[in-house]
Amino acid sequence: MRSGSGLILGIESSCDETAAAVVRAGGEVLANVVASQMTLHAKYGGVVPELASREHLRNIVPVVTAAMAEAGLEFGELDAIAVTEGPGLAGALLVGITYAKALALALGKPLIAVNHLEGHIHAVLMEQGIGIREQGSGGPLLALVVSGGHTHLYLAEEPTSQNRDVGHPAMWRYRNVGRTVDDAAGEAFDKVAKLLGLGYPGGPWMDALAMSGNPRAVEFRFQQIKARRVAADNDKSEDKSRFPSGMTNKKTEDGEHFDFSFSGIKTAVLRYIQTHEMAAVVETRRRVLGEVLRANPAMRPADVLRDMPEAFDAQTLDLIASFQYAVVGNLMRQTFAAAEALGARGIVVSGGVSANSELRRRFAEEAAQRGLRVAFPTMAMSTDNAAMIAAASWGKFCAGEFATEGLVATPQLKLGTRD
Ligand code: KG4
Ligand code: ZN
Repeated sequence: MRSGSGLILGIESSCDETAAAVVRAGGEVLANVVASQMTLHAKYGGVVPELASREHLRNIVPVVTAAMAEAGLEFGELDAIAVTEGPGLAGALLVGITYAKALALALGKPLIAVNHLEGHIHAVLMEQGIGIREQGSGGPLLALVVSGGHTHLYLAEEPTSQNRDVGHPAMWRYRNVGRTVDDAAGEAFDKVAKLLGLGYPGGPWMDALAMSGNPRAVEFRFQQIKARRVAADNDKSEDKSRFPSGMTNKKTEDGEHFDFSFSGIKTAVLRYIQTHEMAAVVETRRRVLGEVLRANPAMRPADVLRDMPEAFDAQTLDLIASFQYAVVGNLMRQTFAAAEALGARGIVVSGGVSANSELRRRFAEEAAQRGLRVAFPTMAMSTDNAAMIAAASWGKFCAGEFATEGLVATPQLKLGTRD
């Protein structure tokens, strides 16, 4: 194992955030700088790959410079450079990889390739001290990575946790035990928000507005993905049979899979908007909100709701609350079923959608009832950042597993194995 102070510069550019961070020994964040392109892409209602690459090129040098200044370090003091290899947008990934390769070469420091999905998991492990201050024991963890591009369940294990020193982690091993067969959960949040004339990205809008709606107003069934309005006063306590599992869990010879599907619920919302003749109301809201957000792009969804409540009718708020209730319920059912079937000692939830307040509340309640530990990242660590990339590289650094000069962007990079 390599010694040294373990100062690693992490670089992340897989989607629409250019990020750089310095992390010591996989656990102490000395700097974490993120330049978001959100307002640029908001105009188009989604990430435009060409624009993303151009913005990364513009931002990469200032972001890295800012991170080094924040950490109070010179480049020569670093022990390694870690960079996101994939998955993500090819052109966007290339900017970070090319920069990291050139820097590593110029400094004569090792380069470490990191899987973005492992980064999301390590955001939580780092903050909780799992595998760093605290040794993993008593079985694997189940990690739900849920973002705009991904919805995956991994069984994560520290293979040599019994005989290693805390602070010098082994590399984690992952088995994919669930994934979406179509849209990611965050993508469904974004698409439904767009259908309803809300801002981009849609997740934070849906989260803020759902609090003012009735989650039982519209019933979404995941098996047949049909929506129907139920009486508002028919507000029963949660009856799990009303919301059957999103996918039939498939048992293969080698293992069980807990897959997801979110494109049906998006179509069900579209149909609901059509059959309930909401189009005119949606168009008015799209125009009014568009004007407000162009004038003040930093305005938060909660501020908009407070300042102009007339933009959000009860039917829309009920639809949003019902959608979120159903999606969170589906994520919960698959995750807790997998945790039980696979003997997980705890659950880690990460990725942009893990910022959702209803998701956090309901996962925490269910975990408490089952006597399971559940952990989330802090809000800043939920969405894309480079501290999670530097943290995830620590095991590889200790094992001396470095990338070569031939490192390329891998847009479809997978994490772990799948039976
Ligand atoms: O991890 P992330 O920053 O980027 C990807 O790797 O995709 O996740 C972004 C996604 C978007 O789809 C966004 O709408 C969603 O996370 N998101 C949320 C919330 N905050 C962000 N979804 C639901 N509720 C939120 N509070
Ligand atoms: Zn991400």
